[in-house]
Amino acid sequence: MNVPIDSKKTANSTGDQMTEQPTNRGSRRVSTSDDIEVGTYLEIAQADRTIGSKPPVDDRMQTVVIMDFGSQYSRLIARRVRELNTYCEILPHDAGSEILETQDVIGIILSGGPNSVYESGAPMAPSWVYEAGVPLLGICYGMQLIAHQLGGTVESGTEREYGHAVIHKDGQDNVLFEGLDTEVPVWMSHGDRIAELPPGFRSMAYSENSPIAVMGDEKGACFGIQFHPEVAHTPQGVEILRNFVSGVCKGSGDWTPANFVSDAIDRIKERVGDGKVICALSGGVDSTVVAALIHKAIGDRLTCIFVDNGLMRKGEAERVQNVFASQLGVNLVFVDGTERFLKALKGVTDPEIKRKTIGQEFIEIFEEVAADIGEVDYLAQGTLYPDVIESVSADSNASHKIKTHHNVGGLPQHMNLKLVEPLRYLFKDEVRQAGIELGLSSQSVNRQPFPGPGLAIRIMGDVNYEKLEILRNVDWIVIDEIKADGLYEKLWQSFAVLTNTQTVGVMGDQRTYQYVVAIRAVTSADAMTADWARLPYETLGRISSRIVNEVAEVNRVVLDITSKPPGTIEWE
Ligand code: XMP
Repeated sequence: MNVPIDSKKTANSTGDQMTEQPTNRGSRRVSTSDDIEVGTYLEIAQADRTIGSKPPVDDRMQTVVIMDFGSQYSRLIARRVRELNTYCEILPHDAGSEILETQDVIGIILSGGPNSVYESGAPMAPSWVYEAGVPLLGICYGMQLIAHQLGGTVESGTEREYGHAVIHKDGQDNVLFEGLDTEVPVWMSHGDRIAELPPGFRSMAYSENSPIAVMGDEKGACFGIQFHPEVAHTPQGVEILRNFVSGVCKGSGDWTPANFVSDAIDRIKERVGDGKVICALSGGVDSTVVAALIHKAIGDRLTCIFVDNGLMRKGEAERVQNVFASQLGVNLVFVDGTERFLKALKGVTDPEIKRKTIGQEFIEIFEEVAADIGEVDYLAQGTLYPDVIESVSADSNASHKIKTHHNVGGLPQHMNLKLVEPLRYLFKDEVRQAGIELGLSSQSVNRQPFPGPGLAIRIMGDVNYEKLEILRNVDWIVIDEIKADGLYEKLWQSFAVLTNTQTVGVMGDQRTYQYVVAIRAVTSADAMTADWARLPYETLGRISSRIVNEVAEVNRVVLDITSKPPGTIEWE
């Protein structure tokens, strides 16, 4: 075991020749954050399981609460509100009122959802939502709920209204529509509509199929809108949300990932006190930002552990060491676990057994190192907001994901560490912004995701040192050319796979019998679905020619043109 280290990354978006197409979801393996594997090991390694609950919040932030009734757009509402520099949290529709104690709740948004309010068992908003004395905005199903729960009537519309529509304002001034034209193009997606307003409400706009497309109460504190302001198809939707957040809720609009950093540092100081923290680094952006943040807060009382499992890409372990120990000056325990991992993996060909073997070995090493460090109170983890939402709103969130990655490894209950999860309220891109704010390089915060089991799941069949070296050399060329052509950050992931097929080739006067490698490059927003990237032929040509020329053990290069689903991003 040695000492001192860094990271992983992400990006999606599309380039001219790379298009991303929506695909259906559903796959056996799924992941949200790029540090998921390390997160997983550690999550199961701690006794006090706090996923779904929250660490104490020390100071109350202005917060907009989004009650999630199962809309696929709930997260988008959250993004939009945060883009208005206002902190917000998504709660499951049946959440209790604790948030009123922990945060300065300035408004509540009731999301859309797939139900009809008059169906038996349809989710209702809890009474505290109406009694909290803060402004309310109901969107689509949320609007129908407000009508239904406050004494109005909702009926099934004669026609579904889906897609583009225009709403016509009633001419009276109202704060929600301030600055908007009389006719507002919107995106609708509903079958039910308001037939009778609840007492004290008036209609504020209509559309062709919704006589009451917008409603508001006399006090100007409770609104319902039949359309979706959060989607891009409602061009002035952001204005409407801004009017709600700043005009109605009086939000100060001063929340940013930058002040997140200073707030988070204060909170970490307060939570950890004189305690000691350990943090496992994966090389990915999440654990990198967590470590940098905690290091800023408590300095040497943080010890980072980096386990080189020997399954990383070329130069990766050195890079981690360099960023953490040299650049950030973090206490780093660097463990070269290559031999142990390779020994454990010997003869293992089943992908899931590879994962479990790697997970178990990781936990064992992690525990040994933690024991060497001595008394430790906290375990730092890079849990992100999407992971939290998935865990807490499984019932109500239509976009719930199943993480079978959480099945790896054993469950050492005895470690008894409390958790510090400073990123648990951030989205991925906010984590990147926080990383930049912390002075991390763009290379560290914009890395493509890399799976915890590393190259082991990119080598078909048995894993050994020789194959790892071949793949490292091939992978290096792929990334080098992708970066040279400015494509790296446009792709979710780009890498090579070492197949277990060998083919005949000819080099000079000699016949060869060498490996086939596959190039995999995908665009994606969240790894749930992905499309194969339309890489330029020139880039592919250079990649192929360099591989067969520079890596003697490979004589054929093929391209994977499968989307996810039905394929997965990784080959194993
Ligand atoms: P798949 O192959 O399931 O991958 O389409 C989706 C995303 O998850 C990553 N991945 C993993 N990450 N441990 C991880 O930490 C794993 O076992 C694992 N398997 C896949 C993959 O790289 C992609 O980003």
